[in-house]
Amino acid sequence: MTPTSTISQAKQALGNDLYLLGHHYQNDAVLDHVDLRGDSLELARRIPDLAARYIVFCGVFFMAESAAILATEGQEVHTPRADAMCVMAEMAPSVLAERVMQRFLDHGRKIIPLTYVNSSAAIKAMCGRLGGSVCTSANAATMLKWAMSRGDGVLFLPDKNLAQNTADSLGLPRTSRHILDIRKDGEAFSLEATDKTDLIMWPGCCAVHFRFRTSQIKAMRTHYPDCRVLVHPECSPEVVKASDGAGSTSYLIRECQEAPEGSTLVIGTEINLVARLAAQHAPGKTIVPLSVSSCANMAKTTQDNLAALLHRIQAGDAPDPVQVAPEIAEPAKLALERMLEVCA
Ligand code: 13P
Ligand code: SF4
Repeated sequence: MTPTSTISQAKQALGNDLYLLGHHYQNDAVLDHVDLRGDSLELARRIPDLAARYIVFCGVFFMAESAAILATEGQEVHTPRADAMCVMAEMAPSVLAERVMQRFLDHGRKIIPLTYVNSSAAIKAMCGRLGGSVCTSANAATMLKWAMSRGDGVLFLPDKNLAQNTADSLGLPRTSRHILDIRKDGEAFSLEATDKTDLIMWPGCCAVHFRFRTSQIKAMRTHYPDCRVLVHPECSPEVVKASDGAGSTSYLIRECQEAPEGSTLVIGTEINLVARLAAQHAPGKTIVPLSVSSCANMAKTTQDNLAALLHRIQAGDAPDPVQVAPEIAEPAKLALERMLEVCA
């Protein structure tokens, strides 16, 4: 049997007991089978309303973990490749972040931790426990304003680029921001240096969006003088400033849909999404990647390993579902629910 027929057969046999979700950075062969494709926010929003017994998440591990946290009793969340880790999420180990937060607490400053959804459940749990929350690239400005209104300052983690770009969009002065030095087990930075700042940023970034350069934008503008350059806010602030617009995955998709026929759009984000947009809108609109940058972890999910997983579920031999220990799941859920409430 081909992977496609295995997947179709499993979907038919399991019916409403199965629901497949996929992030836009997945490849077409996988996304063709999912019930819902979306960006991080759209997918997280749908989890609490799903009734299926088996939720299969095609994306990276933190997404499946968030789904497991938001799923209801009796539901199982599975992912074809549990080793598909987001490089950025890995840059914020929870033990280190807890140590840094403890230093702020001991210092007497009420710092609210706000984590990008691209982070481990343990980081989200820390945010839940310490009065903070979660954000995605689609709601980062709303959530940063929310967090800033609740304490003396905000620790934004793990993405310093999303933090800087969001702060720029809110007009927060550069002088009130500080990129943390997390060396020496979180002891390297001076608390005094962060005292007068409103936004403290963890020094993480995305390996895929880090690669885009202002020189590439310049070259594209030379080649396509009438183009619009649109990028994801995980790109550096320099790249965002040199572009014509920046926003989440859903923003980039919307901009391509709404652009008039005949326009040329240069898109700086993961290549699977850009290639799909280019194919969808050809020949009326020209859509080209700023450069080809691919997420190796997103690419770990294939039609073959999706078929293998669904075959096992159908045969009653499902692997262990994604599990989050209750002492982590409970405060992490609180953090996620705060975001879903604030952005309802
Ligand atoms: P969004 O889906 O929130 O735009 O995030 C992009 C991303 O990097 C997902 O890993
Ligand atoms: Fe993580 Fe970047 Fe890959 Fe998204 S694209 S999963 S942020 S490494």
